[in-house]
Amino acid sequence: MCGIVGLVGKKEAKVKDIINGLQKLEYRGYDSAGIAFSNNGKVELVKKTGKIENLRKELNSQLEKEINIGIAHTRWATHGGVTDENAHPHTDCTGKISLVHNGIIENFQELREELKEKGHKFKSETDTEVIAHLVEEYYEGDLFEAVLKAIKRLDGAYAIGVIHAEEKKIVSVRKGSPLVVAHNENYSLLASDVTPILKYTKDVYFMNDNEMAVLEPGKIEFYNVNGEKIEKEPVHIDWDEAAAEKGGYEHFMLKEIFEQPEALKSAIAGRIKNGKPIISEIKELEEFIKKDLKKIFIVACGTSYHAGLAFKYFMNRYSKIDVDIEVASEFRYMNPHVNENTLVIAISQSGETIDTLEGIRIAKEKGSKVVTISNVFGSTIPRESHGAIYMNTGPEIGVAATKTYTAQIAILYALGAKIIEITEGLTEEIEKILSDIEKMPEIYEEVLKNAEKVKELSREYVNYQHMMYIGRGFGYPTALEGALKLKEISYIHAAGYQAGELKHGPIALLDEQFPVFAIIPKDSLYEKMKSNLMESRARNANIIAITTEGNDEIKELTNEYLFVPEAEEALYPLVIAPIIQLFSYYVAVLRKLDPDKPRNLAKSVTVE
Ligand code: F6R
Repeated sequence: MCGIVGLVGKKEAKVKDIINGLQKLEYRGYDSAGIAFSNNGKVELVKKTGKIENLRKELNSQLEKEINIGIAHTRWATHGGVTDENAHPHTDCTGKISLVHNGIIENFQELREELKEKGHKFKSETDTEVIAHLVEEYYEGDLFEAVLKAIKRLDGAYAIGVIHAEEKKIVSVRKGSPLVVAHNENYSLLASDVTPILKYTKDVYFMNDNEMAVLEPGKIEFYNVNGEKIEKEPVHIDWDEAAAEKGGYEHFMLKEIFEQPEALKSAIAGRIKNGKPIISEIKELEEFIKKDLKKIFIVACGTSYHAGLAFKYFMNRYSKIDVDIEVASEFRYMNPHVNENTLVIAISQSGETIDTLEGIRIAKEKGSKVVTISNVFGSTIPRESHGAIYMNTGPEIGVAATKTYTAQIAILYALGAKIIEITEGLTEEIEKILSDIEKMPEIYEEVLKNAEKVKELSREYVNYQHMMYIGRGFGYPTALEGALKLKEISYIHAAGYQAGELKHGPIALLDEQFPVFAIIPKDSLYEKMKSNLMESRARNANIIAITTEGNDEIKELTNEYLFVPEAEEALYPLVIAPIIQLFSYYVAVLRKLDPDKPRNLAKSVTVE
């Protein structure tokens, strides 16, 4: 996730106007930023690593410069390290074409090779730069036509804004990454969301996939990707600026829950295709996996640990490889049984959690290979690993992990499938799971339609002191995550149990003051879960059940239930996640707490 803005005007704007707009998108990424602008046909390019403030300092007196066209970008690194060269905008060989991009070009390696053979010289390691060279390749005096041809060659997700030194227009296209455009009398603007635009107009056009917009001073024309003109209706936005930063949501956590369709799409882009796993990040470990791998050990904390647990269930079901898991703070002091035949998979959203970091250091000393899944490019844990897989979900601002949790599970399943492909061979069952993950963004749109129902349900649970989450099999990690989400933001004591463990102690807690949240999809353990639900009901506990659409029997078992779409058993941790997140969110808000900043917690835990 990165942020892009663009402006083209009848009247002169200032460089600082574009930078101010970009600053509103800093939440989308902040490892480098850059701008290309012009007033007289000569495009100037300024790029700088670090936050937008660094770019502002670099621009210095140029901030006051009058310009009539400009594009800018704030980056969340995916392909290529955090360097000035890899910052956007990217340019072609002539320097006349400049471009900003949010998304991932999956076939960039092939395109890069092809363009290099044609003599193009690349200045960065990014996937984005190939687009600038492709546009150059097709440019015959008309930027729109060149972009039209270039995008036909691209696989992946993109929202782009392209300018040419000799044309006073911005050509933009959306496929899979957000893009909003708008104009008033004097200016036309584009941005990744409405926040940079609201200062100019409140009537905006939300671009759909495969739509193009050509922005000229004070006017915009829309096209489909066949180059045919289309009509679009503007949408009037009446958010104030603070609401707009959160995308109109009351809190970042809610925004991030609702961002999961987009986040998941970016997380799997280039990693799952037609049911097949493609994890280029472990290319150098493939030989090791094929010849030496005997055991996988997952090391993580908190929510990341729960994602790891879902992965363990996945691997146990679909592979013969021995898989172990431990929370990092235990792993590092337990003399873990890892060696040169072990692959340690570290999961850390922040990439900085000290226990996980120390854990991988120990594993490396014992000769293990380490692969990390993280959301923060260049953070310490992935840097110290043999392989780093970045989630590409953009920054998560709410302290409670939401979109990174689901991205972790999706990536872990793809990684697991890749390991199975190398060691044992893929099966149709696994390919079906991966194809269903590819459909997950649409499934999430459906699941998120339940938000109002979840809110209603949460009202009933605001005043309890305790809550017990139960699940079996793939439902167990969800039970743990549900309990963690609730306790960390609503301060209600909550615990997650394997439902089969109830009778070994926890059931003694249950009564009318101790409700149960049952993860009970219609899977192979459904009948067993049903017995646990009845046991809980017999203790007068109130029960919320999350089950599969069409399981009407649930109405006889409890009054409070929610349906989720039917899925492969291994995918219920993904399908149910937004519901448990929303439930905790609404309970916290109804208790008048700030879910974005829970007490005593930090987003990155760098102390023991
Ligand atoms: C809970 C949460 C934490 C983190 C944990 C590990 O919502 O966010 O439990 O999951 O602190 O953090 P990372 O993944 O950054 O290592």
